Amino acid sequence: MLNLKPMNGTLGAELHEVDLRQYSTSFIDDLKGALHDYKVLVVHDQTALTPDQLLRFAEEFGEAERAEHPIWADVPGHVGVKNIRPMNYPTGVDVGDSWHTDGPPRTNTQWFSFLQAIDVPEYGRDTLFADMTAAYRRLSEPMRTFLEGLTAMNSWGVAKPDATPVEHPVIMTDPDSGVKSLYVNRAYTTRINGLAEDESRLLLDWLFRQTSVPELQLRVQWRPGTLTMWDNEKTQHYIVRDQQHDRVMHRVMVNTGR
Ligand code: OGA
Ligand code: MN
Repeated sequence: MLNLKPMNGTLGAELHEVDLRQYSTSFIDDLKGALHDYKVLVVHDQTALTPDQLLRFAEEFGEAERAEHPIWADVPGHVGVKNIRPMNYPTGVDVGDSWHTDGPPRTNTQWFSFLQAIDVPEYGRDTLFADMTAAYRRLSEPMRTFLEGLTAMNSWGVAKPDATPVEHPVIMTDPDSGVKSLYVNRAYTTRINGLAEDESRLLLDWLFRQTSVPELQLRVQWRPGTLTMWDNEKTQHYIVRDQQHDRVMHRVMVNTGR
């Protein structure tokens, strides 16, 4: 039995009394169920977890992304574990300036991210999450009907200008549960296919803004050793830029095979 404490009425739960350096297969099965139910899981006090152990734990949920990332370098000697420094973006842009999810410029869609806090300021630079399944549920019936079946283009933007844009549905349907989520985001989605340019721009802007509905949000406060894992198909996230002190994080992304 997992010791889970829901963080609000929409998404997110804290997982207590665990040490992610060692676990059983039934623990992983329970955790997969919890990730499905809560979409974001927060585990504090995992300072002793090494990059290898983080990678091994994450790979219980899928295959790690080992490809080079256009912005984030690997932790030296640990291919697949990225060193994330949110303010350390080429051209000085803070990467947290946009709501986004970590999968869209890739062909596969079901990515889970595992982000571990290594060095964090005493307060601030929290991460916000938004529940995109709940966002879908807030849409009116005519709007749902209109969006169903539409696809949109997703690209890396300035981070990788030569990469081919990838087409994904605007409404993502989980093939296992049938659960639907809004799958467009400000950082990567450029265009809804089949609409006129200005129709696409207007509609996307409104869809992107759904992340700012407070009832859909979760706020994660980092401490050294906090590990947060999330489902990138059903959530978006945003780094709160409330102070200059950057943080150092390790991240593994895994794909479940679709
Ligand atoms: C990421 C990311 C958010 C944060 O690692 O994909 O967006 O708050 N991080 O560090
Ligand atoms: Mn991200």
